[in-house]
Amino acid sequence: MNLRVRVGRTVMAAVFITLEGPDGSGKSTQAVLLAERLRRFGLPVLLTREPGGTALGLTLRQILLEPSNKLAVMTEVLLMAADRAQHVEEVIKPALQNNMIVICDRYVDSSLAYQGFGLLQDVAKVKTINEAAIGGLWPHLTLLLDVETETGLQRHTLASRRQGRSEGLDRIEQRDLEFHRRVRQGYNRLQESDPQRFAVVDTTELGVDDVAQKVWHIVRQRLEISEPEITCTKKEGESCEVNHCRSAGSGCK
Ligand code: TYD
Repeated sequence: MNLRVRVGRTVMAAVFITLEGPDGSGKSTQAVLLAERLRRFGLPVLLTREPGGTALGLTLRQILLEPSNKLAVMTEVLLMAADRAQHVEEVIKPALQNNMIVICDRYVDSSLAYQGFGLLQDVAKVKTINEAAIGGLWPHLTLLLDVETETGLQRHTLASRRQGRSEGLDRIEQRDLEFHRRVRQGYNRLQESDPQRFAVVDTTELGVDDVAQKVWHIVRQRLEISEPEITCTKKEGESCEVNHCRSAGSGCK
């Protein structure tokens, strides 16, 4: 698939972007910000997530994350893959066929990192199962938001409390520190083995806005999104909502 996207109403090709990272890396927030930013350029964006990007997937998500469920490891691998197969057929493929930019919060690499590396399973086997689920639909770009394990878990617990999530940590989040360390190392191994597809942002020391800037920089570069020709109507020193006015050399701030 051609990755070139032209801003100015015309999308030249569909683009599939995934966001990945350990728990507490802030990828869900960044997925929303990236979608908003692309939409401001007039681009058609579909923002979705796994597990649970379809009606059937929401049922699978509930089974997968309910702490009282005792799932065998292979059941967990297969249910994640089943969720993905349904999501690809029902949501992702149709959107790409409609020339949309699809942003997916977690995808295949989550299964490789969590079920493969995290649960000490044969990563090649997990990959083969997932290849059957996605039918060759690999992302064009995978943004890996890395975070130091303890920092990520602390952020995650704080965010859950702020959101008033009374149910506490889910079945996967509840796993021990060593599991979460293996997940993080697994992600790093995955990106080292496929640097063309992955781009990494270390979020450990950064705030939301700084991460968003880095993500945007990568997306623009990798997908060759060009700035639209715009004429700013604001006067020198006036504030302007359109961020790209700045680089067009206008007087707005
Ligand atoms: P998510 O909704 O991304 O949780 P959060 O927003 O809290 O990060 O994902 C739920 C959990 O499911 C998360 O701990 C990661 C895990 N997961 C896997 O273990 N394998 C997978 O293939 C996917 C998609 C998610």
